[in-house]
Formats: sequence, C-alpha cells, structure tokens
Amino acid sequence: MNYYDFIKSEYILLIYVLTQSYLAYRIGKRIYNNKARYLRQRFITYVLVPLFFLMNGSCIFTQVKVENSFYSFGIKVFKGWLIISIVISITMIISLLWRGGIRLFSKASIKKDKKNEENKVTNLCKVDLDKRLYMRIESINNIRKNLRIEEVDIKILNNKIKDSINLRILQLTDFHIGAFLHPDIAEEVIKMSNALGSDLIFLTGDFINIDRRLAKVCIDILSQLKARFGVYGCLGNHEVLTETEDYFGREFKKRGIHILRNTYEKLEFINSDIYIVGFDYFYTAKEYKEMCSIFKKVPGDRSIVLCHNPSYFPIFAKQNTLMMFAGHTHGGQIKFEVGPAVIAPSLFLSPYLHGLYCIDNSNLYVSRGIGTSGAPIRISCPPEITLCNLKIN
Ligand SMILES: [Fe+2]
Repeated sequence: MNYYDFIKSEYILLIYVLTQSYLAYRIGKRIYNNKARYLRQRFITYVLVPLFFLMNGSCIFTQVKVENSFYSFGIKVFKGWLIISIVISITMIISLLWRGGIRLFSKASIKKDKKNEENKVTNLCKVDLDKRLYMRIESINNIRKNLRIEEVDIKILNNKIKDSINLRILQLTDFHIGAFLHPDIAEEVIKMSNALGSDLIFLTGDFINIDRRLAKVCIDILSQLKARFGVYGCLGNHEVLTETEDYFGREFKKRGIHILRNTYEKLEFINSDIYIVGFDYFYTAKEYKEMCSIFKKVPGDRSIVLCHNPSYFPIFAKQNTLMMFAGHTHGGQIKFEVGPAVIAPSLFLSPYLHGLYCIDNSNLYVSRGIGTSGAPIRISCPPEITLCNLKIN
C-alpha cells in the first residue's frame, strides 16, 4: 500500500474525523466557558486553528497535486499538522480518562471524611496531589535540591528622591502550585523567605497552575509571608486562565497582601515617597500603553513596577520607572546555550529571559520563579528566590 492509499483508507479517515471532532468539541467548550474574553487572542486560537484543520483535511483527502512550490509546501505543512493534531487529540483523550479515574478515586476518599466542609476542600486538594504521579514529577523537577537564592545589587541615582534609600526586596514568582508543585514545597519556600528577612516582598503572579481549587490553599500559604514594609503583588496569566483574578485580589487583601490591579500604593520615607505600581496580565502592548495613564497620577521616576510579563519593559522604561520586577519566562525553563546562542522555548514569550536589564535609567529584573508550567522540567534554569538589594542614591 503506497502512502496515498494508506492515508485515504477508511480507518485513517475514521481516526481523523473522530480526533478532529474531539478537538473541535474541546475548543467549543473553551470558547463557551471563557465567554470570548480576550477575543483577539481567542480568535487566533479557536477560529484560525480549526480552519487550519479543515484545510489540511481537505488537501490530504483530495490528494491535491500541484506544480506550484508554494502550494506544495503548504500541503506538506498540512500533512504535518494532521499527524500532530491526531497525537494531541489522543493525548487529550488519554489524559481525560486518566484524570476522570483520579477524580472518581478522590471522591471516594472524600466521602469517608464528613467532619466539615472546610476539611472536604483541603482533602480534595491533597488527594489530587498526593498521587504517585506527583511523586515521580517531583523527583524529576527536584525543587528542594535545586532552589537557588539569587542576590542582586542594584544602585540607582535619582535626583528627584532626596533620601538615600536602601531596600532589601525579596521577589517570589511563578509558584504554579498544582500537579507539578505541591503546596508543601511552596510552604517550605515561604518559610525560607521569611527566614531571609526583607523590607518588601514582591509576588509577581502565576500563583497556581491550572487547578483553581488550589487558590484557597495557595492564599493560606502565601499569606504567611512577612516583610517590614509589607507584601505586594500583581497577577499573572494563570490567574486569567483559571479566572481567579478577582478571588486572589479579594482574598489576599483580607490577609493583608496588597495585590495591585492597575493601581498603586505609596511608601513614605523621610523626605520623599516611592510608589509601587502593579498591573494585571494583558495580552497586548496597546492595553499596557493604556494602563500607563496611571503615570499621570504617579511620578514614573519614583515608581517600582510589578508586572508579570517582562516583554512590556520598554513601555514602562518610557515612563522612566526606577525598577520593574517580572517573571513569566521561568528563565527559559528549558534552556540550551550553544556558544553565544541561547535556545529556549520561553524566547517565544519574551526576549527578557532572566536577570537584570536596563533601558536608559530604568531597570528590569526577571526571576526564574519557583514552579514550572507545561512540563515539570527545568534544564539550566534552577528555581529561584530573588533577593534584591536596591540602593537609591
Ligand atoms: Fe509562569
């Protein structure tokens, strides 16, 4: 059987139709659940990608023969996508069956404990995470062994600030509490951070991974953080993804953690003030530019920005902000360095992978963060607690 006979056989057609229908179902469900938030991004994901499926199907099954090299290249791409999409669909089906199995098991365990509702919530989280699968993942990721404390000294000269200010700032980001990071590890990180002692603690988003049921556990743990002038934070894309932005904003506030959602707070020193400005996660530069209207009320050159995505550093640098703290890239998460070249999937997210960057008088620090997303693997990017000694004047 040659390639075209094989690809045109009824079995392949059946697998193709079933798997593509399943993908279409999942995509439709997502659109419905998200009620078309962030429409532009979802248009690409949910309209253009299915169109792509349709095109590849029609090209393959009609066995188009064309001389034009541009179209023949296109057909090759579609064929590639046929295989990739089938693999994605089958993986999703297996994961659905696997998670369904775990959920059934979890419910059975919870039924035994009918003491109170609060216990039910806590147990649900523990049962889901204490699976052997998690233990295997932890052994790959090994956060306990690899966690590094990165100490960074930053000196800024600013004639608008009359005081000489020394701040010991601790940044924690991208916990991604979930199947790849057990709450117990997050708790150990918090204890370690408190033991380091700091004037300010900044949390720069992605508190949980994809399971919104862990939001409460996450807040309970992170609320144990203590710093001389307080704990401030901003939200990440995983709070948008899990639709927990309002929940985190509200519940953290009850526990004394200031989640700055496109707003600011003032730190008063003897002769001058410093402003901490935090932004929600947005998908486009235009939205961040609009948010910069806040700098009409707050002097940019006396502001420290908390923003999950470092890509928008140039926008804030235009406002002459003193410092920006970000996460999001996980330092690359999987990074290979070949001579001067750096290969990392996170470069698709942002050119600012990890460390200190400067534009004119503005500084950006990007932390590798604690957890992982997508896969529980870090290569050449150990998890990080950042300790920044910021000296102004
Ligand atoms: Fe993240």
